[in-house]
Amino acid sequence: MRPQLTALILLTTPALAQDDDPQLAFNNHCRTCHSQDEGDNRLGPSLHGILGREAGSHEGYAFSDALASADFTWDKETLDAFIENPDAVVQGHGMKPYPGIADPKVRATILSALGAG
Ligand code: HEC
Repeated sequence: MRPQLTALILLTTPALAQDDDPQLAFNNHCRTCHSQDEGDNRLGPSLHGILGREAGSHEGYAFSDALASADFTWDKETLDAFIENPDAVVQGHGMKPYPGIADPKVRATILSALGAG
């Protein structure tokens, strides 16, 4: 398919349909800043293997002091809470601008793209 056509389809697909598909939901809400490829830090750190990773510890990424000094390991619960409202999990974090995702179904879909099915 021609790239222009793909872009057009992505742009015109209703947001709801995108939020039903894990990869599309991730692309929609996170990929502007995050890659899922190992070691691929962008504006935000790579989210490859984020489950079970210590918060603020990814090699080669300059975390905010708040996240670097956070003392927990990412699991399904902390990730869910973080993408709902990052301030509630790590005060002073630098994941901005990020509006938060209120809909638990959309959050669950994104988490399944990150391996927390
Ligand atoms: C506007 C850019 C942006 C968007 C959109 C964004 N993030 Fe982030 N994210 C960041 C930045 C920047 C950091 C580093 C924050 C810090 O150092 O305090 C971060 C940090 C994180 C961390 C902590 C990683 C670690 O190693 O401790 C997780 C988890 C995370 N983001 C998940 C997500 C998910 C899931 C989404 C989509 C729902 C998302 N982010 C959307 C920019 C973004």
